[in-house]
Amino acid sequence: MRIAVIAGDGIGQDVTAEAVKVLQAAGRVFGRTFHLEHLPWSADHYLKTGETLPANGYQMLREFDAIFVGALGDPRVPDNRHARDILLGSRFELDLYVNYRPVRLLDDRLSPLKNRGRADIDFVVFRENTEGVYVSVGGRFKAGTDDEVAIQEEINTYKGVHRIIRHAFDYAQAHGHTKVCMADKSNAMQQGHALWQRVFKEVAPSYPGITATHQYIDALAMFLVRDPGQYQVIVTNNLFGDIITDIGGALQGGLGMAASGNLHPGRTSLFEPVHGSAPPLAGKNVANPIGAILSCAMLLETRGARDEARAIEAAVEAAVREGQTTADIGGSLGTREAGDFIVTRIKEP
Ligand SMILES: NC(=O)c1ccc[n+]([C@@H]2O[C@H](COP(=O)([O-])OP(=O)(O)OC[C@H]3O[C@@H](n4cnc5c(N)ncnc54)[C@H](O)[C@@H]3O)[C@@H](O)[C@H]2O)c1
Repeated sequence: MRIAVIAGDGIGQDVTAEAVKVLQAAGRVFGRTFHLEHLPWSADHYLKTGETLPANGYQMLREFDAIFVGALGDPRVPDNRHARDILLGSRFELDLYVNYRPVRLLDDRLSPLKNRGRADIDFVVFRENTEGVYVSVGGRFKAGTDDEVAIQEEINTYKGVHRIIRHAFDYAQAHGHTKVCMADKSNAMQQGHALWQRVFKEVAPSYPGITATHQYIDALAMFLVRDPGQYQVIVTNNLFGDIITDIGGALQGGLGMAASGNLHPGRTSLFEPVHGSAPPLAGKNVANPIGAILSCAMLLETRGARDEARAIEAAVEAAVREGQTTADIGGSLGTREAGDFIVTRIKEP
């Protein structure tokens, strides 16, 4: 398996080192070789060379079996141009239309909610990943003056909405789930989100064993905190998915715990922790590597290496259960030591 590794900026470097260590350990235990190619694309690389990624960068990425990214974002690049090109660019150019973000509490102790534990916090969010407000259609008129007009359009296409909603139902069916909830803001956004309503109603009847429900995104944000146990699969647009999966990260014990996949089923896909580069924590051996490590497990699972993925997940669960973690989730280990501990727990089933 050939994997491109873009550690990126800030704590992206710290957590990627641990994710790679754990991946290699799983390879050793299961007798499988992973060929990792480290790509230097980052703020440092951009500031040194003026290049965010090479002209054939997306083509290079397409030739790998999978891509792993740490995090991108650096205060020295105020417009985050490199992050936009590398991360958003890959989502668009590789057409990674599914943003898959599981929200699973690994230990009751980490729940931020009173009287809610593992049984209540276990669902997945599918975020549309190639449209919405992220395509940056719009413009500014009279910029910098008191008469400034700023327009940012939200793009919703039948194709884009249909394929993410269908993916959410297919996933639910394949994993024995019985509920899919679609969240939009169709009461206020009467054009774009009418399309989400139409497509959801069109697709749902093809899945008779699954109850299809709808919530406005503001209500869903409230229910995620009051009653997360009602959800199994949530599907929503790019912006709302971005926001509610940060709530999801908090429900798992913190952003450092959350993993994600940017997928185009059957093609090269990209895996990354949900968190950003957290510049104040960078290089201090304090960042939690679990989100990155679980993203690696997701990468392996997607590429059919299920035993390796399960073994990594079990090792992470053991570390959390035994309190052998970084301080953000109550442990006393550094980033490297937390990674080392997880390596010691990787076993053949
Ligand atoms: N996918 C990405 O690469 C991505 C995602 C979000 C933000 N960003 C970028 O990252 C930079 C910083 O953004 P931000 O501060 O809003 O978000 P962030 O996720 O980097 O950090 C927010 C806070 O969450 C906590 N946190 C995050 N990850 C953690 C970890 N692994 N271990 C322990 N604590 C952790 C820290 O307290 C941190 O201050 C910005 O440049 C932003 O654009 C990148």
